[in-house]
Amino acid sequence: MAATKQIKGVTLRADPARDTAFDVVQSPRDMHEYVGMSDIAQRQRIHRHMHNEMQALEIAAQTLSDFPDAPWELQLELARQCWDEVRHTIMMYRLVLERGGYKGEFPVMNHEWSIACMATTLIGRLTLQNRTFEGGEMDLLRHLSRMWREAGDEYTAGILDGFLADEVQHVRFANTWIKKLTANNPLAPLQVAEAVSFLRRVTSSLAPTPGETNGVGVDITAFTHMDGSEFVAFEDRRLAGFSEDELRVLAKPLTRSPENPENIDKATTS
Ligand SMILES: [Fe+2]
Ligand SMILES: [Fe+2]
Repeated sequence: MAATKQIKGVTLRADPARDTAFDVVQSPRDMHEYVGMSDIAQRQRIHRHMHNEMQALEIAAQTLSDFPDAPWELQLELARQCWDEVRHTIMMYRLVLERGGYKGEFPVMNHEWSIACMATTLIGRLTLQNRTFEGGEMDLLRHLSRMWREAGDEYTAGILDGFLADEVQHVRFANTWIKKLTANNPLAPLQVAEAVSFLRRVTSSLAPTPGETNGVGVDITAFTHMDGSEFVAFEDRRLAGFSEDELRVLAKPLTRSPENPENIDKATTS
């Protein structure tokens, strides 16, 4: 049985091992996230992204370890994903250094790891990590690459475009394999539902209350209210195997709040 931790009454997977350079926190209240594109906001955004890529690597690797009986072709996909996420982490780390930053300059959270690695079925794990969190990552990358481009940083925008191409594949193989595994497993729909319902419960329990601020005084809800249909990368999601019915659900107004639980697929904190 994997080690767990309790956060706001929810049981989550205990944090993975971390270099002591990192200050690992458990709440967005303790993060140092900024709005806008000031120098420090840019550095923090890249540092957070580097850490999220590292988490994506760890989740894919942990999935290989937790489900040794997964079909060989799926194990190969997960192994290839590990390589992609390593490359993404290294590229982000280079950007951190090029901007005069350093590993551990800002607090980090293992949000995705703590949730996704609670799934005890392979279908549940792929549903939470690849289909949901990395599905949200596709939306976010499309948005971020536009943001960096508008700020005149074509170099960073181009790197994020490259990541997006890889993320489409990470979501696509999960969608393909969830379908394949479902065909041979009558319990599969229940396993998907169980994973989604767990995510809803966690998202609702951890949701910030209006006016809550983070470690640098920024209202946390500033990061959780991006308008739904504008924010969804529909074309990328089509390429990643989302059906038109699923895209119609995602086109509804946003996302993480308990009031819009059907739109949980867009929840991400990357
Ligand atoms: Fe990645
Ligand atoms: Fe990925």
